[in-house]
Amino acid sequence: ASMMEALKYFLYYALILIFYNESVECSQQHMFSPNIRYQASHGNASFNYSYINLKYLKAYKLNITPSASYNVNNKSQCAKECLKTKGDCKSTNLREMNIGFECEILGEDIYTSDYQLVEDSSITHFIIANKCLQNPCRRGSKCIPIYQNNSYYCAYSSCRIMKKIEPHLPTGYYNVLIAGKLRKVFCDMDEDGGGWMLVGNYSVPSTQVGPEINYGDLDSFEELSTGNFLLDSNIYLPVIDSSSPINEFRFKCYKPSTNRAVDITTDPSTHWGAYINRYILGRELRTSCQPPCGIRALTNDQSEMSTKANRIGHRNIVQLFYGAAFFEDGRRHVFLQDSLNYHDCDDTTVPSLTQNSPWHEGYWKFFVRC
Ligand SMILES: *[C@@H]1O[C@H](CO)[C@@H](O)[C@H](O)[C@H]1NC(C)=O
Ligand SMILES: *[C@@H]1O[C@H](CO)[C@@H](O)[C@H](O)[C@H]1NC(C)=O
Ligand SMILES: *[C@@H]1O[C@H](CO)[C@@H](O)[C@H](O)[C@H]1NC(C)=O
Ligand SMILES: *[C@@H]1O[C@H](CO)[C@@H](O)[C@H](O)[C@H]1NC(C)=O
Ligand SMILES: *[C@@H]1O[C@H](CO)[C@@H](O)[C@H](O)[C@H]1NC(C)=O
Repeated sequence: ASMMEALKYFLYYALILIFYNESVECSQQHMFSPNIRYQASHGNASFNYSYINLKYLKAYKLNITPSASYNVNNKSQCAKECLKTKGDCKSTNLREMNIGFECEILGEDIYTSDYQLVEDSSITHFIIANKCLQNPCRRGSKCIPIYQNNSYYCAYSSCRIMKKIEPHLPTGYYNVLIAGKLRKVFCDMDEDGGGWMLVGNYSVPSTQVGPEINYGDLDSFEELSTGNFLLDSNIYLPVIDSSSPINEFRFKCYKPSTNRAVDITTDPSTHWGAYINRYILGRELRTSCQPPCGIRALTNDQSEMSTKANRIGHRNIVQLFYGAAFFEDGRRHVFLQDSLNYHDCDDTTVPSLTQNSPWHEGYWKFFVRC
């Protein structure tokens, strides 16, 4: 937030008029904003000059990989290269060289990637003038410009913040801003006050060998609806945590063979709850803990996890979140293990690890609250 304050303070308005004679193919939907006035010189979509409104931020750069980089003589030449991309360019970095400038064309802007804005005395960062400069969104949501029609939308950076600001919102899929991009995620808006973002959904629908576990990345959230998707938690939970800190991890599962639902969450206000959080994010080692080990039972919970768990971090687990992050030694787990096709949801006395065991039927859901 202080970065954005600094940004507003330092932003100066600059109108850069681009005049060029080449006929560049362009159509209406590629325009950045009404401030860029493409003036068609022919009866078709070609034009020979245009305008772009830019603002700049001195001694800052947006630290992302540029989509292109040019050596240019002046600022307008850089703006012109930006214009030429017909909308893919969202901002530019202009680095002063001994002779001329280095012009970086960027596919992102400060609105989706503000955490990448860094100080750099040799660089001026340019953004395209847009409606978000008028701060139209309510507190807690972020304004994302739509350059094509000079409008904007307001985005939330977590299901929890969304629920807090709009308490009437029902459970369902929402666009949430995670690590610089809007992603369609499933938010449980009901349980325990709501605001839970689903990051893993795995089910074995009937007595059968469970499907091989499908790990994916932040762009694969849509697969949650298939019932066989787990976000690669070792890699991406720390990414989510850095863009929107994770306060709680929730484990929900149900196995018809035991007829018991597990629905528990870590409680970061306790020593062990905070420890499990850090363990899942790869920042602590496995250890013993004192029941209830920082585990809080939600209203649906019928398990004994919160009273019996006494260990944090199973041996040989690959994914810290989906393997037994905490358990009662040799007995109760919430556990998905691919190699053995062994899927445990709390209960004791599993008859064997055989692949066709009915004990593997059920569903497992993993949530975070940020
Ligand atoms: C650019 O477009 C204007 C308006 O149609 C036209 O009068 C002018 O001749 C064009 N210039 C060039 C160099 O094509
Ligand atoms: C559009 O105008 C340009 C310049 O006159 C011309 O080269 C091009 O063929 C035209 N395109 C169409 C689809 O008419
Ligand atoms: C910027 O550089 C280009 C290419 O050298 C040149 O044609 C243009 O006149 C320059 N514009 C300004 C405003 O100096
Ligand atoms: C601008 O474009 C977006 C996306 O194409 C659309 O959803 C929105 O309704 C448009 N807004 C206006 C004011 O035209
Ligand atoms: C999870 O997977 C099941 C299929 O097994 C599906 O019915 C459900 O809609 C998925 N998504 C959520 C949010 O539970």
